[in-house]
Amino acid sequence: MNTDYEWQRWNSTFAGEQYYYGDEAGPVARRTVRYAKPLLPSGARALDAGCGEGQDLAYLAEQGYRATGFEFTPEGARKARQLLEERRLRAEVVECDLRTLNRTERYDVVIAINVLQFLGKDAPDCLGALMEIVRPGGVIGLSLFACESGEDIEGTIYRTSLETLLQTFQDWHPFEAAELWQWGAGGQAQPFVTLVARKPLVVRFTP
Ligand SMILES: C[S@@+](CC[C@H](N)C(=O)[O-])C[C@H]1O[C@@H](n2cnc3c(N)ncnc32)[C@H](O)[C@@H]1O
Repeated sequence: MNTDYEWQRWNSTFAGEQYYYGDEAGPVARRTVRYAKPLLPSGARALDAGCGEGQDLAYLAEQGYRATGFEFTPEGARKARQLLEERRLRAEVVECDLRTLNRTERYDVVIAINVLQFLGKDAPDCLGALMEIVRPGGVIGLSLFACESGEDIEGTIYRTSLETLLQTFQDWHPFEAAELWQWGAGGQAQPFVTLVARKPLVVRFTP
């Protein structure tokens, strides 16, 4: 049994039969696909990092991507597979921890929707790995908890400011970047940053 606090929390959150976040794709996943679609060949590879119960993963599969979902809780992975089966969609669901991402893999589209904020001190390194696995010309879509400036780590919770996130992606082409307040699942308002950006086709060389 995994004793990681976030693992336990999300595994029990997903244990019921209802879809905790519903079964429809969220707005950041939809917009990421909207930006990426005209730029990428059909059958491009897409990764939903921390796919939870799979509503965005199912959407990626429905949109014709060769889609993979990474999820570290068995209950999340079970629900994601169930949703794909209900919709007769094909996608791979891999039970794994994002802290052990294989940095040599390449994907055309990567989304990580409200996941990185639960990786505490490991979040910046994990974000670096996600940026690395996007193929040149590929697209990333992110949503995570925001703070006013810099970065903030409080136990397992990580927050970043929009300015810091944009600094991290300074060589990328941003389609959209926003800081906004949304209603969290617990009913309270929570600030988030979202970013959808394209990796440059040619990596700049600085001698
Ligand atoms: C708020 S839920 C979001 C799930 C999904 N992306 C969505 O938008 O509904 C956070 C997700 O991050 C996953 N997660 C947290 N830490 C993780 C890690 N280290 N490796 C893989 N998944 C992780 C949780 O299991 C959970 O599915």
